[in-house]
Amino acid sequence: MAARRKSQDISESNQLQAAVLNAADAAKAASQKIAIKVQDISKIYVSGDIEVKALQHISFELFQGQFAAIVGPSGSGKSTLMNLIGTIDKPTSGEIFIDGIEISKIKGKELASFRNKKLGFVFQAFNLINGLSAEMNAALPLILSNVPTKEIEKRTKAMLEHLGLGARLKLKPMQLSGGEQQRVAIARALINNPTLVLADEPTGNLDTKAGDEVVKLLRRMCFENNVTIVMVTHNPDITKYCDTVIYIKDGRLEKQEIISKRFHV
Ligand SMILES: Nc1ncnc2c1ncn2[C@@H]1O[C@H](COP(=O)(O)OP(=O)(O)OP(=O)(O)O)[C@@H](O)[C@H]1O
Ligand SMILES: [Mg+2]
Repeated sequence: MAARRKSQDISESNQLQAAVLNAADAAKAASQKIAIKVQDISKIYVSGDIEVKALQHISFELFQGQFAAIVGPSGSGKSTLMNLIGTIDKPTSGEIFIDGIEISKIKGKELASFRNKKLGFVFQAFNLINGLSAEMNAALPLILSNVPTKEIEKRTKAMLEHLGLGARLKLKPMQLSGGEQQRVAIARALINNPTLVLADEPTGNLDTKAGDEVVKLLRRMCFENNVTIVMVTHNPDITKYCDTVIYIKDGRLEKQEIISKRFHV
């Protein structure tokens, strides 16, 4: 009798545990929204008689809030892929969806506005405007979005303080270290609360320590702001901070590795 009671208790507790786990899974799945869907894209550059198949039949999806690295040898097509996702260039075939919108359908002024509101860019060479202060550089996407001046000041100051640059607001890029300049570029990329940040070799011009800090910062921003980040890197050491790594070789997706269990795949 006692043994039957005990086995019933265990089975009930297993059922309860299973129900709790299912609920947790369901909640996680509900919060897991696809932010980018890359569907069978190819890119062929043609110059005269020469054709370069820069990308061939690449497909993958990333979740909102996921931190992805793109890794591959020089010339494998990483920057081409970033340019296609970033609406800078168009694929020869295939489709890319950002927040469910097929980006090749967005044209003209709407494309400029889409880029400014939904995308943030971080480059290897920082690409800050030398004549403007850190504060003004970070504020550019808000200025372009016609946000009221008082709000621009408030949001920019808060963002730069959050990134540890509170004492550097008025300094120009040349007065900042490489790591600080890249943090200003990250502030600029995030200031408009984009869906997606594209970072092509953001640590390429930094030493190991500053590079590591920049990647940790990107990871923190990814977690805190639920923004999807795609980062190209040559450095295998920093992919450990990412949720997933996409390996590109000769223009093809070689494999996708899942590093963290934050997302169901
Ligand atoms: N505008 C272009 N016209 C013609 N070919 C191009 C163009 N842009 C890139 N390519 C070619 O496409 C291929 C992929 O280039 P891509 O810049 O995407 O490589 P990558 O992986 O970013 O390399 P790296 O690590 O050196 O930055 C290369 O063979 C390159 O020569
Ligand atoms: Mg490149």
